[in-house]
Order: sequence, then C-alpha cells, then structure tokens
Amino acid sequence: MGRLAITGGKPVRTKPFASWPIYTQRERQGLLRVLTSRNWGGYPFPNKFAHVFAQKFARFHGAKYGLAVANGTIAIEIALKAIGLQPGEEVIVPAYTWEGTVGPILLLNALPVFVDIDPDTYCLDARLIEKALTPKTRAILPVHLAMRFADMDEIMRLARARNLAVIEDCAHAPGGKWRHQGAGAIGDVGCFSFQSSKLMTAGEGGAVITSNLEYYERAQSYMNCGRASVTDKFRHRLIGFNYRITELQAVILQAQLERLPRQAKVRQANMDYFEKRLCGAPGLDFLKPDPRQTRVAAYQYVFKYLPERFPGVPRAAFLGALQTEGIPCDGLFYEPVYRSALFPVDAKEWPALSWGRSEALDLKNMYHCPVAERAAYEEAVWLPHHIFLGSRKDTDDIADAVLKVCENIAELRGLKHPAIEVKAMSRAERPRVEKRQW
Ligand SMILES: Cc1ncc(COP(=O)(O)O)c(C=O)c1O
Repeated sequence: MGRLAITGGKPVRTKPFASWPIYTQRERQGLLRVLTSRNWGGYPFPNKFAHVFAQKFARFHGAKYGLAVANGTIAIEIALKAIGLQPGEEVIVPAYTWEGTVGPILLLNALPVFVDIDPDTYCLDARLIEKALTPKTRAILPVHLAMRFADMDEIMRLARARNLAVIEDCAHAPGGKWRHQGAGAIGDVGCFSFQSSKLMTAGEGGAVITSNLEYYERAQSYMNCGRASVTDKFRHRLIGFNYRITELQAVILQAQLERLPRQAKVRQANMDYFEKRLCGAPGLDFLKPDPRQTRVAAYQYVFKYLPERFPGVPRAAFLGALQTEGIPCDGLFYEPVYRSALFPVDAKEWPALSWGRSEALDLKNMYHCPVAERAAYEEAVWLPHHIFLGSRKDTDDIADAVLKVCENIAELRGLKHPAIEVKAMSRAERPRVEKRQW
C-alpha cells in the first residue's frame, strides 16, 4: 500500500467543494416574477429581461450594444454573420479551443485556418498570424482562455493594417480586462457562453456585444428570424433564425452578473495563494502573467505538468492520482480542434473545403501545431473554477494534494487504474463512463 489514495493511502480531501452553479433568493424571486408574468420569452423581441440583461452585460464590458442569445456557439455564428462573412472566406482561429469556436465558420461555408498557441498563455499566438493570412482572410477569432488573453495589441494592429474584423471568443473571460478594456469590447464583436460550467450560467445561454451599430443591427435581424432590427438604420435584409434566449434564462443571468465581481475576487485571491504554494515545485510550471491584462477572468486554473521531469508517468496518471485525492481536474479539456474526435470534418458535407481547388482541404491532416498538441496531450492541467470559491483551507487541500502527488510520483510508475484510464480518454469517449464533467 502506498501513500497516495490511488495506491491505497488516505485521500487529502473527502469533503465536496463549493457547489456550482450558485443561486440565491435573487434567482428564485426573478424566476417567480417571470413565471407569473406569463411572458417567458423570447418573442416579442427584444424581450424585457433579455434586453435589460444584454445592455447591462455589454456596458459591464465597455461595449455599446448587447444581445442575449441561445448559447455561445450561436453567439459566434451571429458574430460571423454580423461582420458579413462571405462563403469561401477564411477566419484565423487558435488550434487549442472548444470545437464550438470553429463549427460556425464551416456552417457559414467559410474556412477555419488553425494557428498555434503561445506557450506562455495557451491563447492564439499573435506572432504566427501573419504567415497564415491570405487574400481571403476576413477575420481573426482569438479565444481568451486559461486565465489569459491573446496578445490583443498585436492582433488589433494586424487587423487594422489589413482591414480584418476581430471577433473575440470570451466564453472563458467574462469580466476580464486587457489594458482596462473589457473582454469582447477590444475587437469588433465579443461572444460569450453561459453554459452550465461557465462563470455565469443559466444552464445554457450566450451573448454578443459590440460597439458597431451596423454589426448590432445585422446580428439582431439574424437572431430574430430576419426581422428588421429595432433601429434599422442600415436596412439590412437577411435570412435569419430563431436564436433568442428565454426570459427565464435572462432573469437568472441578471443575478449572476451582479454576483460575478464578488466571486471573481474570491477566486482570484485563492488562485494567487494556490500558485504561491506551488511555486518552485519541481516538474510543474505556470502560464506567464502579462501586465497588460489588467483584470483576470479565471474560468479554470491551468498549470503545466512537465512529463519529461516525471519519466514513465504520463499526465493521465498524475491526473488520476489527483482526482483520487479528491480534487476534480482534467487534462484533455481541449484538443487541437483539427485532431479532435468531436470534429469529424468531411469535405462532402462542407463545400467550402473544395471550392476553387482540385483537391479538397484535409483539415484533419494538414495541420501540426506543436504547442497546442503538447498542451492537449501531455502538459495542461485544468482545475475547475468553483473549487476556488471556498476558504483558504479548501485551497490548501488542493495545493496539498498536488504536492503530495508530485512527492510520491514513483508510486504511479507503471500503475494501471480506472481513474487513470478515464483521464486518458478524449471528451468524445468520456460520456460513456462519466455522467457529468464537474
Ligand atoms: C471557448 C469556447 N467557445 C465557445 C463555446 C460555446 O459555448 P456554448 O457551449 O454555450 O455553445 C464554449 C463553451 O463551451 C467555449 O468554451
């Protein structure tokens, strides 16, 4: 019997962490108000709570206009439509992100162009964008994740020089700031997700923010079945769809937005303390802070497991051991999208891959992004945000467990265990064994 819980020792933590999502009387009363009003949404448009929430959310990030929509994937589709993306045009995306960042580009018959991530931030590496630009490039779509921002100074410089639109995927970054500008309000359009694990949630939901009235009008029409927008100054007529949010969701999101700054402070203090405790632990490394990021939004705490420092112990074994110590964690949180089983792209279904070419583009095999691949398959460790919403003692448990696994790593060499097998599985395979991620 070893010291680690996975080899029969006593786990560091047996108590559950703070539950997520959190709700109070604010959500309860709001839901009751909507329920008894019998106006559950989403039509008439913009509906009362959806409109008020969207405006508050936009202003909170420093944008003029906001729309609350059905989910974050649709928010990206709406943003692409708002900038007027045309079939056959190209959009630069980071290789390391959720598949929902990329799918909408294909859906609109355009082409995603994958670019590797920066090893210091795990976000789109702005230094590599220029090489990926072609005359067909229409937009850059950075994703702010791992408590970091892509280098928005460089991305905006490039975009303005080449007349490209910038759409920020801020699914992980509500409340974050770059040079005191809110996430999503730095580029042309910002997209957010309120799916159940996110920093603000109504189970599902999303938002689009912008300061460009023309983009706002086009987005409004597209998400409301093509109807004229409320201001209709630009008189765009387009085929639209029903991507509206319900009033039940909007009223929950209002309460969640009010709570966000307070929760962010608690999370941040605990994450700073956690990092101090781990600092100097051999074999672990951290993403680099950037002073231009003036407020961190911490959806997940991400650090690096350096497998070459633990020979014979793959990351899945480290994660399986950490999970068995009572700490929720993940490694294959994202994969390079082009390699993901959730991205079975086939040129027969997506005509843009073949247009003007003798052979269709083979998105799955034409890319190799070494930093994204190392992060996804060997190095990144993701800890969910809600475990940092508790006390100092909770954070000590997380740090103690990580340090305990590092100190007793020899117990994991050659070990086979179901907890390790699960951690080696991709997200596409996991639902067969795991009901809920967090
Ligand atoms: C980076 C990123 N982009 C887009 C999305 C899509 O959001 P949704 O799940 O609300 O459709 C998510 C959500 O998981 C995400 O994490």
